[in-house]
Amino acid sequence: MAASEAGPIEPLGAGDLDACMALSIEAGWNQTADDWRHFIREGRSFGNRAPDGRLVASAAALPYDGPFGFVSMVLVTADWRRRGLATRLVDRCVEELQARGLVPVLDATAAGAEVYRKQGFVGQFGFDRWQGMLPVAKAAAEAAPGADRIRALDAEAAGAGRARLMDDFLGRDGTIAVGDGNGFALARAGRRAIQAGPVVAADETVALGLIDRLFAALAGFVFIDVPQAWRRIGDWLKARGFEIQRSFTRMALGRAEPFGLPARQFAVAGPEFG
Ligand SMILES: CC(C)(COP(=O)(O)OP(=O)(O)OC[C@H]1O[C@@H](n2cnc3c(N)ncnc32)[C@H](O)[C@@H]1OP(=O)(O)O)[C@@H](O)C(=O)NCCC(=O)NCCS
Repeated sequence: MAASEAGPIEPLGAGDLDACMALSIEAGWNQTADDWRHFIREGRSFGNRAPDGRLVASAAALPYDGPFGFVSMVLVTADWRRRGLATRLVDRCVEELQARGLVPVLDATAAGAEVYRKQGFVGQFGFDRWQGMLPVAKAAAEAAPGADRIRALDAEAAGAGRARLMDDFLGRDGTIAVGDGNGFALARAGRRAIQAGPVVAADETVALGLIDRLFAALAGFVFIDVPQAWRRIGDWLKARGFEIQRSFTRMALGRAEPFGLPARQFAVAGPEFG
């Protein structure tokens, strides 16, 4: 390969974990090594290396049990951008998911949306990343539904089975869940902030109650990704000193209609998982 060219797309494995983390840290993202491990173990992750062997670009395809799979972790280090690496990596992830009969779905940053629109991805809805500080935990987490119920409620709202993802979240140190048989709210440790979500509930009033209970059990800097339709939740977060850090667009290849039951999804699991 010429010194100015990246190598071919390669599959990434457990040995690439540190290099993957370096890419997401450079972008200021919140994913942990546990998140990258999930992509490497449960999906297919790809990357390109510079002539010196350094990983300079990544993307991951994560199949779900249902009509769609997720494209994630599209990252290109600053000095390798605008050479088509992201486009080719996303194409590779699309092939991977389509070969399994799944519609490729992703959550785009503003920069990412520029790339994906050209590839035929269509916007479904927007959501805002709210960030804020919860100074002290006021209460221990109350009762939460069992893992089976969480898996079922999540699958119904998201529109695809994500049992391995829910089990992974629930098995991590620092994960907190609240809820009952009809809804739940989860929070897990992130690199920069606690990541709250998913939040699944019958309506916005119930969802607010769940978020309130979840927040009562948390202390620290928190991110929560809330679809823009939920204005009362946005107002409630603002009243607690939260602010919008940035916004994302849920996009799917050639499909504008969201999957699942958007009326029951009050926070997504995070832009890397949908
Ligand atoms: C977004 C990102 C992955 C793009 O990677 P890339 O390898 O530079 O993208 P490509 O070279 O494949 O870009 C393809 C096209 O998308 C558009 N595009 C890419 N980045 C753009 C930007 N920042 N602004 C406007 N258009 C952009 C351009 O039309 C580009 O074609 P061109 O260079 O011929 O004009 C990279 O900028 C990045 O890692 N950003 C930080 C992390 C991030 O936001 N990732 C996306 C997560 S959803």
